[in-house]
Amino acid sequence: MIKRIELMNDWRFRLTDNDAFESIQLPHNHVELPFNYFDETCYQKVSTYERTLTIPKLLENQVTKLRFEGVMAYAKVYVDGEFLGEHKGGYTPFEFTLPQVLEDQETHQLRVFVDATEREDIPPFGGQIDYLTYGGIYREVSIDIYSPLRIENAKYEAYQTLLPEKGLRGQILVVSETEAEGHLRVNLVDQKGALVATNETVLRVEAGDQWVQVDFGLLKEIQLWSLDKPYLYEIKASLNEDIFVTRFGFREAVFQADGFYLNGERVKIRGLNRHQSWPYVGYAMPKRVQEKDADILKSQLHLNLVRTSHYPQSIHFLNRCDEIGLLVFEEIPGWQYIGDEAWQAVAVENVREMIERDWNHPSVILWGVRINESADNHDFYEKTNDMARRLDTTRAIGGVRCIDNSEFLEDVYTMNDFVNDGRGTYLREQQSVTGRADKVPYLVTEYNGHMYPTKIYDNEERQAEHVLRHAQVQHASYADPYITGAIGWCAFDYNTHKDFGAGDRICYHGVMDMFRNEKFAASVYKSQVSPDVEAVLKPVTFWARGERSIGGILPLIVLTNCDYITVSFGASEALRVDKRAPELGSLPYPPIIVDMEAIPPSKLGEWGMRWEDGIIRGYVNNQLVSTVHMSKNPLPTTLIAVADDNQLTSGVKDATRVIVKLLDQAGQVLPFSDAIISVTLDDESQNLGRIQGPSQFTLQGGQFGFYLETNGKPGQLRCAINILNMKLASVELAIEIA
Ligand code: GAL
Repeated sequence: MIKRIELMNDWRFRLTDNDAFESIQLPHNHVELPFNYFDETCYQKVSTYERTLTIPKLLENQVTKLRFEGVMAYAKVYVDGEFLGEHKGGYTPFEFTLPQVLEDQETHQLRVFVDATEREDIPPFGGQIDYLTYGGIYREVSIDIYSPLRIENAKYEAYQTLLPEKGLRGQILVVSETEAEGHLRVNLVDQKGALVATNETVLRVEAGDQWVQVDFGLLKEIQLWSLDKPYLYEIKASLNEDIFVTRFGFREAVFQADGFYLNGERVKIRGLNRHQSWPYVGYAMPKRVQEKDADILKSQLHLNLVRTSHYPQSIHFLNRCDEIGLLVFEEIPGWQYIGDEAWQAVAVENVREMIERDWNHPSVILWGVRINESADNHDFYEKTNDMARRLDTTRAIGGVRCIDNSEFLEDVYTMNDFVNDGRGTYLREQQSVTGRADKVPYLVTEYNGHMYPTKIYDNEERQAEHVLRHAQVQHASYADPYITGAIGWCAFDYNTHKDFGAGDRICYHGVMDMFRNEKFAASVYKSQVSPDVEAVLKPVTFWARGERSIGGILPLIVLTNCDYITVSFGASEALRVDKRAPELGSLPYPPIIVDMEAIPPSKLGEWGMRWEDGIIRGYVNNQLVSTVHMSKNPLPTTLIAVADDNQLTSGVKDATRVIVKLLDQAGQVLPFSDAIISVTLDDESQNLGRIQGPSQFTLQGGQFGFYLETNGKPGQLRCAINILNMKLASVELAIEIA
């Protein structure tokens, strides 16, 4: 490519032919949705997007392509009324070559019809699906200008990765309009921008496409990409003036029956599934917010893997996974249903589009080439497996099933094991699932979810059981060397179809809510890292005598990686507790359980006696590292509103999350407060952006959130967050857009 022109602004949109056009920016969602209780057919329409195209003067034979990163679910594209092309499937990119006639300074009319109905000819549609597929042009669109002799893609592979001298080779897709000659140069550049190696060839090519092999041979002093040090190189290929740049990481990822090995070291996979959706705007979140999700999973929940359930997700999300060292299991769109041959052909094409887009991401270690939880289908899955093997020989292949004794065409038997119903069996042993005589690489790709939906404002007993179930399955995964790991259902609550969820169009299956606020169960994952990374201390309680049945707070689960804790009740002496739950003993850091043996009821007071403050302290190497203070008399004391970012970017739509919490005098969230919050943008700021969703809402479980969205203009976005009917100070936020 010589140049990319982003087409994110200046679109006109109408949902149906009866509507008037409105001005919009990308990413865009067909309909701004309520938080819950909405009819999902409201966005399932055939809409129209229009835009003027101005294409700079091109040199002879230069090629312009119109690229869409993702349009849900079927797009038909016209320029000046001429049909340019169509694309089926909402999660993978597509591009069309613009006709030569456009290659001048004139303006032209681009029109895209976007069909967001659940068309039976396109995966994942045809049956029921437990998630929503929000309509619209919800990812980037660009005009990409290429030379007549150009590079359209490149795939790089490391070899002898674990030896002191590591190999690097690549395959470069060279496309030429005519018979031509060019100078191909491929540079490997390190993070400081220094040239590490270069490979040069003079190419003589026929008209058409060809894959050109390059081999750098063995390279010295190459840094590995790992979970702790995700070192990324840049590989810049140039063919005359045409350039293709990608990032690359040297790492070896191998699934064996006895575990997953990253760079030769066994890593127990501890992950969660992620849907790429948010309140109100569905999938249509800009780069920054996509990246933030990866940060939350890696740095807040301390996971080592995310499954992009159930489709290829934003490139910004994957890029961030590369940067921070979060492994990815990526899969094609689908949910239980397999359609006819034409439908299957689209799914095979989805495999190709996914792999050709993402094969240079070091974070991606596994391709999912089956329709999530579908039945066996030999012919179809031979095709998806063949496609994946043909395109990428370096990565393992999986495909998520929920059936036992399923035909095993892949490299990793990826299984949703929902056996934990709270009655004592946490995970099944792999051979009882696979029905095979031998052991194979085996990964648990879902558990919990619908087995125990839990809301952020649910009562303490339910939340404690939610915590236990996540801990139990992770414990079972750690206990069994023939389970490479377990990926829970799921990271975040999500809007869904009427056929699923709590009746309000939400599946409360997350360890976080839709704003990524933590439920207690989030700390099951958080607490599994060394306290050197973060000391975690989370007592699973609201600290009240009368919240649980029968009263009291025992037994108290404390999710922690501290060596021991002390518990104080009022002025009484601090009691030391270090007993870890023996039935969760395989976890790196099993929870500490404060039971009546550790603290007799007389020390905490009985029903009818005074309730007192609680202080829990966590110690590592006998040093106090964390303190949780819980008030006997929690009262609304402070409203906090914290933005993820106080600097946003102008030019295109940007967004940031603001988390709102009502805290008591000890700094704890008031878990049952549904106080009303009002958010106001000042007059000037209203020209710079908006609040996604309503500007008044009630807290849920004492907390909530909203996203501030910009419109590309620079300035300062100022907003005030007030709590109604309480004399508490409001919070003012000022966010720079530069
Ligand atoms: C699985 C499915 C997920 C989700 C989950 C809820 O069967 O693969 O998409 O519906 O159940 O627990």
